[in-house]
Amino acid sequence: MFQVNENYLKLPGSYLFSTVARKQKEYLEAHPDKSVIRLSIGDVTQPLAPAIIDAMHRAVDEMADAATFRGYAPDLGYEFLRNAIVENDYRARGCQIDADEIFVSDGAKSDSGNIQEIFAQDSKIAVCDPVYPVYVDTNVMAGRTGNYDAKTEIWSNVIYMPCTADNGFAPVLPKEEPDLIYLCFPNNPTGSTITKPQLQEWVDYANKIGAVIIYDAAYEAYITETDVPHSIYECDGARTCAIELHSFSKNAGFTGVRLGYTVIPKDLKCGDVALHSLWARRHGTKYNGAPYIVQRAGEAVYSAEGKAQLKEQVAYYMKNAAYILNGLKDAGYEASGGVNAPYIWLKTPDNMTSWEFFDHLLEHANVVGTPGSGFGPSGEHYFRLTAFGSYENTVEAIARIKAMRFT
Ligand SMILES: Cc1ncc(COP(=O)(O)O)c(C=O)c1O
Repeated sequence: MFQVNENYLKLPGSYLFSTVARKQKEYLEAHPDKSVIRLSIGDVTQPLAPAIIDAMHRAVDEMADAATFRGYAPDLGYEFLRNAIVENDYRARGCQIDADEIFVSDGAKSDSGNIQEIFAQDSKIAVCDPVYPVYVDTNVMAGRTGNYDAKTEIWSNVIYMPCTADNGFAPVLPKEEPDLIYLCFPNNPTGSTITKPQLQEWVDYANKIGAVIIYDAAYEAYITETDVPHSIYECDGARTCAIELHSFSKNAGFTGVRLGYTVIPKDLKCGDVALHSLWARRHGTKYNGAPYIVQRAGEAVYSAEGKAQLKEQVAYYMKNAAYILNGLKDAGYEASGGVNAPYIWLKTPDNMTSWEFFDHLLEHANVVGTPGSGFGPSGEHYFRLTAFGSYENTVEAIARIKAMRFT
C-alpha cells in the first residue's frame, strides 16, 4: 500500500489566497448586486508593454519558420537573456555577477520553493514574521520545520524573526544560529525595506556563522529611495553567502507570462561543494527551461524602449501606492510601506483581528485585502492592501474605506 508524504498533512488550513478567494466568491454569490474591488493578491492588472509584445510577436514568427525554430532552451537559459540580466541588473550597479551564474526559470515562486532541496535535511531555517508563505510551506513539505502549534501558529523548528512596528518591520539578527536565512526586500507583505548598511550586517553575519541568505528581490523595481539596495550583491562578501531570486512578474507584468531567474555565485561553497553545481544539476534534471518566446520577451524588458515603458508602468502602480498610503493615513489608520514597494501594511482599527477586519472591509466597503495573520503570527492585527489595481478602482476603494463605519 502506498503511503503519502506525511509532511503535507502537517500544513495548516488551505493556502492563504485560496481562503481569501473563497470568501470573496461566497460574498458575491450572496450579494450579486455588489461590486467588489480586489486589492488582495499581488497580481498585476496593466497589459504587457508594447516593446514586450513586439518581441513576443517576432519570436512567434521565428517559431513558425524551420530556419529559426527553437526547441528545448539551454539549461541555464538563453545567453541573450542572461547577458542582458548581467549588464543591467548587476554590472550597471557595480555588482560582480557572471552570465553563467544566472539560472533562468519560470518565476520566483518555484525557485523560492525549490531552492531548499539542495540543502541538508536538518538545516535550520530563519524567516521574517510575517513572511511570504512559500518559504515556510515548502520547508514543511520537505519535513524540516518540526511540529506546528495551532495556537501560536509557530513551527517548532523554525527561527522566527518578528518584523513589527517596534523594529520598523526590519528583522534583527536572531539569537539562535540558522543555516538558511530567507530575506525579502522590498518586503512582501509589509512593504518595508532595509538600507544597504543594514543588509551589509546580514551579509557579514551570514559569512561569520556560515549561513546562506536566500534573498528574494521580486520587488526590486519598486525601490524609489537611494539608500535601499537593489541587489544583495551590492554588499561586500555577498558572493560567498547569498543566493538571489528575481521575478519578471512585478517589474514587467509577467505574472501570466512566467519568467524569473536565480543567481548562485560560484564562490558560494560548503567545503569543496559549490551550490552552483548542485542547482545546475537540479535545474538540468527537473526543469526544461522557460519558453524561447518568453525569454525574448524578458530580453525586451532591458531594451531602451522596454525600460522606458516599464518605468511608466511601475510609476502607475506607485501612484496607487501613494494614494492608498495617504488615504489611509488621512482616515486615521496607522499605515506603512508603499514607498519602495507596491504593498501597504496597515494596523487594524479597534484591535480587530486580521480576519475580522477582512470580513468587515468586504461587507461594509466591498473591498478585498489580505489578512496580515495569514503571513505569520506577527501579522495578526495587520492587513495588506496592494497597489496593483487600476487607478480608478484604487481611488474608489479608498473612498469606500474612508466612508466605512465601525458601529
Ligand atoms: C516575495 C515574493 N516572491 C516571489 C513571488 C512570486 O513571483 P513569480 O510570479 O515570479 O513566481 C511573489 C509573488 O507574489 C512574492 O511576493
